[in-house]
Amino acid sequence: MSPAILPRALMHRAAPKLFRMPSRSLYTTNRTKQQVSAVVASLQPDKPTSSRSIPDEDKIVAVDMHQTINDLATNIDTWNRKLKSLLDKDIMRHQWLAVSTPRDPPINPESHRANVVAVHVEDHTLSCNVGGALTKIPNIWLRDNCQCDKCVHAATRQRLLDTFDIPPEIAIESHAVNGKEVHITWNDGHQSSYSLDFFSQACSDPLHRAVARNGLASAECWNSAIAEEPPVVTYPMVIGQDNGLKDLLQKIRTYGFCYIDETPATPNATQEVLERISFIRPTHYGGFYDFTADLASADTAYTNIPLGAHTDTTYFSDPAGLQAFHLLSHTDGSGGASLLVDGFSIARQLRQQDPEAYRTLSTTYVYAHASGNEGISIQPYKAFPVLEHDPATGFLLRVRWNTSDRARIEAPIKDVGTWYDAARKWDQLVKKRENEYWEQLVPGRVLVFDNWRVMHGRSGFTGKRRICGGYINRDDWISKYKMLRDAEGTLERLGTD
Ligand SMILES: [Fe+2]
Ligand SMILES: [Zn+2]
Repeated sequence: MSPAILPRALMHRAAPKLFRMPSRSLYTTNRTKQQVSAVVASLQPDKPTSSRSIPDEDKIVAVDMHQTINDLATNIDTWNRKLKSLLDKDIMRHQWLAVSTPRDPPINPESHRANVVAVHVEDHTLSCNVGGALTKIPNIWLRDNCQCDKCVHAATRQRLLDTFDIPPEIAIESHAVNGKEVHITWNDGHQSSYSLDFFSQACSDPLHRAVARNGLASAECWNSAIAEEPPVVTYPMVIGQDNGLKDLLQKIRTYGFCYIDETPATPNATQEVLERISFIRPTHYGGFYDFTADLASADTAYTNIPLGAHTDTTYFSDPAGLQAFHLLSHTDGSGGASLLVDGFSIARQLRQQDPEAYRTLSTTYVYAHASGNEGISIQPYKAFPVLEHDPATGFLLRVRWNTSDRARIEAPIKDVGTWYDAARKWDQLVKKRENEYWEQLVPGRVLVFDNWRVMHGRSGFTGKRRICGGYINRDDWISKYKMLRDAEGTLERLGTD
């Protein structure tokens, strides 16, 4: 991978910490020694800019980089060639460090929350006192986030205020604290009120905010032993009560899957229970599906052959968030047990066993495609690694594993062996007996799983199976979960989380 194609978001995170000079500019040829020295001088690691501490490992990498480039700079003729290979290697490391200092959930989202105990106004500007330290709140942000009915539409929560009508010199004219409410009169005459809670959210750690935004619950990794007590809810509970639906989504957040038992064995009831979560996502295969193994769509899913554990729709830049299966009938044959494997658990095992392999799967980008149907070849706009980490939290965010749909591995062809070595280790863990959870689905039991975490497969079968199900988008189900868990808080924190 060359820095020129490094994803922008990753460069953005890596650049301020590790390089002041965009790495792309280091590639240009015909530099004078002075120019090289100037570039090298700019490669000093920056000081951390946020309140979050930067792991020492990052700094060491940056300093090493500086030293090495300094040495290379003495020989201008070899500089570009060597630097290119160095950057190819090191940018990948930086990228990994920047985005994937991997952390394991669980984390209690409340634990990082700031607690603003008081506010002070000085020089017409407000500061929050968090544990004795003062955090200044820019006036433009505070005025822009006024919560009054004139500034925010009461029903839609959309901003009514034209942000850029606020004069840049907006300042606090006067303020009053009434219990836990802070009232402000601005120098343009507008009056605003904010709660201390609002300021606590505003001052919270970025990690806390990202956790809240993602609706993260404590994830529990599992293996084949989950067969003894898999997560289950019932159809009447999900259909009849918001609490039942919340319970379903909470279990999917925690375990990556859940069964909905007592569901009538019909497509209509299955669609109805899925649409309690959100609308079904259409793809080139259609929306809600109801099929028998007849190769109606050109995909191995429509055959009766065994399928190893995989995630679906790796060929979309936004893969399906949830997937659901309901076996409506199975006649004149046997087999077709369902397989689930916890991708987070596999990732954790791989990281412990072979951190380099984990790193390779987190930094090597892989393309995918869906090309079986006449006239269709779906490909993502860019490649993605098997293991993707949330840039804000460093948590493992998404597993993409579908070796049938894999296309190009985005690495210099001479280096792709490294990816195969790492992927083989991953595959061995995926196929380890104790990581596999097998279950024979039966009519009445809907399986819903998080396609960003849990891999699925099945054994081969004979006879005629009728299966229905569908996909639901990630943002739709997580947003639904957050609203069921804390609707008021979710709406209150639009500007602060
Ligand atoms: Fe699949
Ligand atoms: Zn207002």
